[in-house]
Amino acid sequence: MNALHGLVLLSAAFGLVASSSARIEPSPPPPAHRVLVYTLSAGFEHDVVKRAKPDELSLVEQALVDLGRASGAFEAVPTRDASEFDPEKLARYDLVVFYTTGELPLTEAQCRSLLDFVKNGGAFAGVHCATDTFYAVPEYGEMVGAYFDGHPWHEKVRVKVEDREHVATKHLGESFEITDEIYQFKAPYERSKLHVLTSLDTTNLDTKRDGVHRTDGDFATSWTKDFGRGRVFYTGLGHRPEVWKDERFLRMLVGGFRWAMRDAGTATLSKSEAEYRAYALENTGDPKRGYELFRKPSGPMCIRCHKVNGTGADVGPDLSGIARDDSREQILESILAPSSTIEKGYEAVSIELTNGTQAFGRVLEEGDGMVKLADTNGEMRMIPASDIASRVTSNVSVMPQGLATTLSKPEFADLLSYLMTLKVPAVK
Ligand code: HEC
Repeated sequence: MNALHGLVLLSAAFGLVASSSARIEPSPPPPAHRVLVYTLSAGFEHDVVKRAKPDELSLVEQALVDLGRASGAFEAVPTRDASEFDPEKLARYDLVVFYTTGELPLTEAQCRSLLDFVKNGGAFAGVHCATDTFYAVPEYGEMVGAYFDGHPWHEKVRVKVEDREHVATKHLGESFEITDEIYQFKAPYERSKLHVLTSLDTTNLDTKRDGVHRTDGDFATSWTKDFGRGRVFYTGLGHRPEVWKDERFLRMLVGGFRWAMRDAGTATLSKSEAEYRAYALENTGDPKRGYELFRKPSGPMCIRCHKVNGTGADVGPDLSGIARDDSREQILESILAPSSTIEKGYEAVSIELTNGTQAFGRVLEEGDGMVKLADTNGEMRMIPASDIASRVTSNVSVMPQGLATTLSKPEFADLLSYLMTLKVPAVK
């Protein structure tokens, strides 16, 4: 039974309840992720986002509304109103989707709010022309990962699936054929800065024709990447109307959106982190060297946030007894993907200050009109409570993701071996 069907049955059941006893209120359905869908064309307007009437949804907007309902994964809210990017409004969403062109009419503050939303642990998904927009905002280009550089091909092409495990692409097999307009990308596109999911198979394509600028043969068609603490998914497909009815494309969107929003069951590790994980499970490492790494001021700074046997700080949990409660594999996961399970009582908060800036961290103490916040470097900041406009619990950990990969793989195994020796919990 799909989620939509379930919802219909559920409301039918509530209908019965309501008629026999008017007092019983149906409980609302479980909160879905809210997804803001922005389809403004300040430049070229694609047919798929044309609205027949101002209050009628375009093909793309309707497809995303339907997709959210059918998958049960999100509620899509289509808009062309830039005021949705005001910080207090944007805070109500989990993901922002762009299908836009040209220089968008967002104010500087709205633009800042979007970039900060993603940087602070939010999610962004770009589809097709989301790389053909906001050229005047280079930080936007950095976020989405590339700018459009023409579309040399509009024909049936073969697309290689480079990551066959990812939730967005695992249904696609080794490769697939599709007819669509295929983008070429320019800077800031750089393969090493993002994780390519799919790319063009150029075996049977004319790569010398007019308009082909890249000489390295690197024609990615979709990718994921990080932006600050947030996640970004992009696909260059989605020009032609029939693509928006293509099950393979739609499933890729749901997977990409869910990954960006860190939905349960979507992979939380990058490719290199997965390699660290595999290495540390196969290699034991040296606990003495691990002990030094844990404390080293220029190292991954574990000691700045964690106490062991009375030394260290209280930003994160005391790790004195970590190996008594957790297996090597669980400890590994806690370090590689801190946000996938956040230890109870150690949640972070996103704070909006009255001067429009933001703060992120874990509240260590509060009282006397002050809030003591520890940031992602383990540094303390005192914030007057009166400066706080709003505050929400974040689903992102204060412990930064990516600490492990600042070490070499053998060092990471050393660190883990040290943690495995910690079996005597601190006396409280
Ligand atoms: C900026 C602060 C910070 C730094 C730096 C940091 N951590 Fe953490 N860590 C936390 C917080 C906060 C939590 C609890 C929230 C969570 O589960 O993510 C945590 C959780 C953990 C846990 C899970 C604890 C449990 O009880 O399950 C482990 C293990 C851990 N950290 C190890 C490390 C190691 C090893 C390092 C150094 C490589 C490190 N941490 C660096 C803040 C930090």
